[in-house]
Amino acid sequence: MKYVFILTLLIVAASGGLMGAAVVVRWSDNMTKTAKIVPGERVFKMPAGVVPRGGDLVLPKEARDRAAKQPNPIKVSEASVASGRQDFQIFCVPCHGPEAKGGVTGPVATKFIPTPDLTNAQLQKQRTDGYWHSYIVAGGAVMPSYGEALSSEEAWHIVNYLRTLAQK
Ligand code: HEC
Repeated sequence: MKYVFILTLLIVAASGGLMGAAVVVRWSDNMTKTAKIVPGERVFKMPAGVVPRGGDLVLPKEARDRAAKQPNPIKVSEASVASGRQDFQIFCVPCHGPEAKGGVTGPVATKFIPTPDLTNAQLQKQRTDGYWHSYIVAGGAVMPSYGEALSSEEAWHIVNYLRTLAQK
């Protein structure tokens, strides 16, 4: 009887060990055998509902100096200015006012921080297109960033529009 008990115990232990070994082998083996995708190996379609940023590099606020040197890739044209004006009316007027004159001409600015006069000739001369583009896509000291709402190209259109407002 004793031997039967020991034998049963051995069989149970052996099958347990075998199962354990099977798990270990399959587990460590699986890691190398399952389908895997190496970065850059395949191009995937964008998931539905995703808004691309046009593939442009978006520099953070901290890299403003570098961003300021970026040339404006969008030529000034009637269409570009019109597109910029339209987006300015939607996104910027609440703080910068309908004529971009700043101060408290925008309804939100009265409750927020008065904005600078973007038509100011001095400021217009001082700032590069890249600097303002960076302000729009990455935000300012307190100004929120619009990189999520506007594409890089749309931001350039706004810069082109702002340039038409420069006071002589
Ligand atoms: C919530 C209010 C608010 C909104 C909306 C807003 N701005 Fe501003 N903006 C500010 C404030 C405040 C400043 C000045 C302080 C700062 O630099 O953050 C400013 C500064 C600026 C400057 C001046 C940067 C400089 O010093 O040369 C530009 C250009 C500008 N905004 C463009 C825009 C454009 C274009 C939009 C729309 C896409 C926009 N802003 C939307 C509040 C806003």
